[in-house]
Amino acid sequence: MFSRTALSYDPQPLPDRFDFTGDEMQQKASEFLEHMRKRHTVRDFTPKPIPREVITTCIETAGTAPSGANHQPWHFVAISNPALKQRIREEAEEEERRFYAGGAGDEWIKALEPIGTNEDKPHLTIAPWLIVVFSQRWGEFSDGTRYKNYYVPESVNIATGFLLASLHSAGLCALTHTPNPMKFLNTALNRPASEKPTMIIAVGHPSAEAQVPSVAKLKKPLSEISTVFE
Ligand SMILES: Cc1cc2nc3c(=O)[nH]c(=O)nc-3n(C[C@H](O)[C@H](O)[C@H](O)COP(=O)(O)O)c2cc1C
Repeated sequence: MFSRTALSYDPQPLPDRFDFTGDEMQQKASEFLEHMRKRHTVRDFTPKPIPREVITTCIETAGTAPSGANHQPWHFVAISNPALKQRIREEAEEEERRFYAGGAGDEWIKALEPIGTNEDKPHLTIAPWLIVVFSQRWGEFSDGTRYKNYYVPESVNIATGFLLASLHSAGLCALTHTPNPMKFLNTALNRPASEKPTMIIAVGHPSAEAQVPSVAKLKKPLSEISTVFE
């Protein structure tokens, strides 16, 4: 955390330790893999309410993520207010109409075809919660003085991954949505110019008719996503 007064190096004993055997490690790693394989991006939600504390606890988990110089350059806005969700939907759909009408370019539209998305974003009003992720391009003290943040996209993306994993572990579904551009979210949510909206995450329970595109379940095999030197 960046502080105006100099913070000094003050090492403390490691507070948490795990000492699993090889078999235990393998079991835990495999269980987590199976758990994460059950995460699916969902585009059809029910309006069934979710307690605010569940959402804020998941955001707290996101806040445990590592970050450049521990500056934690993120802010998460959670919205269940229907009027605000409606406004976000209208403004996002306006951007999306431009995107699908040619702004995206042919290659991008072709890549999205098997995912089955379009400019209609009903989930933005149906899902009980939206979480908008902001990255803090620079930090600001209350008097407006700026300080630098480091590795901002890397840090915010890791925190967002923690958030998605935490929502999934609470049995919730999410849709990561990125209208382009997203500047309207600063005005709608009263966030400063130092912050850049990076994602809208719709959170809720899947509708009874919810489907997933089959291509989304085609994950690259381990041999393609990793190289090992021993
Ligand atoms: C940065 C990012 C932006 C995305 N934007 C959208 C989006 O605007 N609309 C949408 O329907 N899905 C969006 N997705 C979801 C992807 O389509 C989805 O993750 C992918 O198809 C794989 O499916 P899975 O999440 O179920 O594994 C986005 C995902 C990411 C990571």
